Amino acid sequence: MTFIHKWIPSATGSNETTLLLLHGTGGNEEDLFPLARFLAPHAAMLGVRGKVLENGMPRFFRRLAEGVFDEEDLIFRTHELARFIEEATKTYSLNPERIYAVGYSNGANIAASVLFLEPAVLSGAVLFRAMVPLEPAELPDLAGKRVLMLSGRHDPIVPANNSETLAQMFQQAGADITLNWQNAGHGLTNSDLAVARKWMEQLQN
Ligand code: MLT
Repeated sequence: MTFIHKWIPSATGSNETTLLLLHGTGGNEEDLFPLARFLAPHAAMLGVRGKVLENGMPRFFRRLAEGVFDEEDLIFRTHELARFIEEATKTYSLNPERIYAVGYSNGANIAASVLFLEPAVLSGAVLFRAMVPLEPAELPDLAGKRVLMLSGRHDPIVPANNSETLAQMFQQAGADITLNWQNAGHGLTNSDLAVARKWMEQLQN
């Protein structure tokens, strides 16, 4: 398969939710397992490693500067990741109706890009510290997709109005979007985790 990844099946059967774990810059496929386990103890988990290296640090797409993305690469990587999700769905017999991305920072940005360009492969996402990845020529129909954004009021990397714009894009596309503001910077806090866990619990019902 085309991405380095780690798969942990659900202990409770193959109909369970799968969390697709997408790390931040410099992370790897293992990073978000503890977080995901906390968010959804019974979910299957698929940790993926970004293929682009920036000074040796894995990422999911190239950037020209902090917050300035190489759009051509982003689009290419978005489709590449979508094909991987389809492949993994077959290989690991995932329930395609219940695949949620959980992304942090760079991983949240590519998850948002997948929702805009390849919406069929995800049911929704938890996006920690996401920003607008790109402005698609046309917004897709995201009706039925559930998205939780957790943004930091004092994030030095993601300006507040950028988070607001992303949330508006999801809303205009018809997604069920919740934007949650944390009294935090770019790093995650216990409060982020508590909010995300509650949101995930509602998904299971
Ligand atoms: C990005 O490059 O995706 C964002 O600047 C977030 C980051 O990875 O620092």
